[in-house]
Amino acid sequence: MLSQLDSLKTDALAAISAAQDEAALETVRVNFLGKKGSVTALSQGMKDVPVDQKKEVGAKLNDVRTTITDGIESKKFALQAALDAKAVEGIDITLPGRPSTGNGAMHPLTQIRDLAIRTLRRLGFILAEGPEIETEFHCFDALNTPADHPARNEKDTFYLPDGRLLRTHTSSVQIRTMEAAKSLPIRIIAPGAAYRRDEIDATHLSVFNQLEGLYVSNDVSLADLKGTLEAFFREIFGPNTAVRFRPHFFPFTEPSFEIDVKLEATGKDARWIEIAGCGMVDPAVFTAVNQSRGDNLFDPETTTGFAFGLGLDRLAMILHSITDIRHLIENDVRFLQQFAA
Ligand code: DAH
Repeated sequence: MLSQLDSLKTDALAAISAAQDEAALETVRVNFLGKKGSVTALSQGMKDVPVDQKKEVGAKLNDVRTTITDGIESKKFALQAALDAKAVEGIDITLPGRPSTGNGAMHPLTQIRDLAIRTLRRLGFILAEGPEIETEFHCFDALNTPADHPARNEKDTFYLPDGRLLRTHTSSVQIRTMEAAKSLPIRIIAPGAAYRRDEIDATHLSVFNQLEGLYVSNDVSLADLKGTLEAFFREIFGPNTAVRFRPHFFPFTEPSFEIDVKLEATGKDARWIEIAGCGMVDPAVFTAVNQSRGDNLFDPETTTGFAFGLGLDRLAMILHSITDIRHLIENDVRFLQQFAA
């Protein structure tokens, strides 16, 4: 048995070194180590080896198997190295490189998002985030949105089979942030994707981008809301931009407003353009958050806050006079090049 093993080893190593490609090498492996291979066959003879020789023969068997396995591995490596060398053969590495045909640039949406973040950070807001797959609680219930509200309709919202959903707005991050908060004040912004089952057209996509803001403390007033957002929009649209707060309804704020900015359009009269929603956080939202937390950190008697949300795609469209939202996702270089610095 020992001498059989020795000659098997010699044969295997010879076969390995003779193999010219991967396929040949694989044949060698199957012949020696495969289910019906010679090493396997010999190892089945182990049971007939006298007890006093079992140890020595067993060790030898292992040695032969390892030697063949390692031999195959290193041959495989050598074959690949030879192939690689061949692939670059004849390439003149002293040739100069091809110059790059132009620098990349930030996507207009990224530019707007970063400008908004920069501006709001200077006003004291920090970044927050939450999941895009949300629970009904975080997206609707805790935001004081009743079960029969149209936004919760199967026709408008992407539901998952397990009852969760793709968030329809970034307002869910308000709830996530308040649930996790250790203390007040909270001053966060959350840019991110939102999803709606809209018919896709020049102004609608089923995935779009929002930016949410939330400021919660014990003395936040409507004046703070107006001052903050006026400052923000004047920073974005220019220092003389008129900003107006038009009463509106949102379930999670009371009072609520839509914000319009007055913008010049070339050749036309300036007109009011709706740009964001906002309001004072409804006490019912604080109550829902407290219930979820199991404490009273957001005591509805003493806690006040404002929230706002805006569409970043819309902001980019207004700022750059983009007439079709689909340009923002089509990656047409002729479109994108216009926004390169
Ligand atoms: N979530 C609203 C939407 O998607 C926008 C919004 C309105 C957010 C008012 C707010 C807010 O935080 O206070 O239409």
